[in-house]
Amino acid sequence: MAMPAAAGLENVVVASTSISDVNGQIGQLLYRGYDIRDLARESTFEEVVWLLWHGELPTAAELSCFRDELAKNRPLPDGTAKLVDRLAEVPAAPMVTLRMATSMLEIEDPCAKSIAPPDESTASLHLVARFPTIVARYQRRRRGLEPVAPPPNADTATAFLTMLHGTRPTAIDSRAFDTLLILHADHEFNASTFTARVIAATLANVFAAVDGAIAALSGPLHGGANERAMNMLEAIGSPNQAEGYVHNLLAHKERVMGFGHRVYHAEDPRAVILRQVCRELAQHTNDLRWYDIATRVAETVWNAKHLYPNVDFFSAPVQHLLGIPTDLFTLVFAMSRVSGWAAHVMEQHANNRLIRPRGAYVGPALRPYVPLSAR
Ligand code: SDX
Repeated sequence: MAMPAAAGLENVVVASTSISDVNGQIGQLLYRGYDIRDLARESTFEEVVWLLWHGELPTAAELSCFRDELAKNRPLPDGTAKLVDRLAEVPAAPMVTLRMATSMLEIEDPCAKSIAPPDESTASLHLVARFPTIVARYQRRRRGLEPVAPPPNADTATAFLTMLHGTRPTAIDSRAFDTLLILHADHEFNASTFTARVIAATLANVFAAVDGAIAALSGPLHGGANERAMNMLEAIGSPNQAEGYVHNLLAHKERVMGFGHRVYHAEDPRAVILRQVCRELAQHTNDLRWYDIATRVAETVWNAKHLYPNVDFFSAPVQHLLGIPTDLFTLVFAMSRVSGWAAHVMEQHANNRLIRPRGAYVGPALRPYVPLSAR
């Protein structure tokens, strides 16, 4: 039996994929060969989802039809809407609500049985279309507000902010949120995506794979870091408290949420872009407090540990400035990443082999059974 791979499968290449590539040495992220910096500047979330699923940027006609399909499928099936309303009354963790709502979507989706095109891509479209509606409805209901119907023919960013706040967002807020969705859509074999592939490799359907992926994303070492990063910024309170706060964390050997990365040894290109988005939003709303605190934290962590911020760090103040409640930050991450999870499920199903690694046994060697009377 071979010796185990590095702890946490560090640098272990488990399969080929053509969906995205993370080059940790130079801080580059490609979606189907396109640099995330170009996509964040030039494209939209809907265009990126099409790219991840079909391998090419959509034509104008393809994009228009895809946007219409997403908008048309944004309303929730009845049972899912009722379940979200019920869960909004109980103190369940929001990510648990998203997981349970995903299972209810499966029960109500006629396309759920198939793990092949076209039904699997239709089911995937339903997930991308309905996650924003679930999150917004949940938030309105738990605040005792009536849900806001999905606005017809709006893109995902505008539709979500409208359903969440009950008013149409400014163009600047929509564009900021659209950029955030683009940046979170896919990231090669991260923990939640690999979870989705392992589940898909048993020939389970996209809903089952997404259910497991949501569970993986909820952990503080993965998608749960953005929520904790905002809690940290609020605990710090002002820029001149940042340095002392971070040094105290590090002195207690604690992790600074939103920093470090298994693959990036250069800056996470998504964090670079989100920092710019955060500054622009802060200047536009004339509320520089969170940007200033975050910047001081990043300087302090760099000076102390030479660690860069990852996607979760500046995502936090951006979402806060867009009026998104902190305990929904990871659900927003899932609203985008569900498109990447679906891309990987479809890629896995298209050329599948069960994913079943080995474990190096280090327990006791063979030994005879000891009857109870002799123990
Ligand atoms: C995401 O994989 C992906 O692609 C994920 C993601 C995606 O898009 O899907 O990019 C999204 O999950 C980003 C990561 C969000 N998580 C956090 O921000 C949580 C805080 N970060 C760390 O826990 C850590 O950096 C990880 C989990 C992200 C990576 O952990 P590794 O690769 O196992 O690194 P490690 O724990 O072995 O740390 C190596 C060294 C240690 O120092 P020593 O003990 O050897 O002296 O770096 C230190 C760590 O102490 N370190 C940190 C730190 N991260 C690493 N020290 C303080 N704060 C941190 N955040």
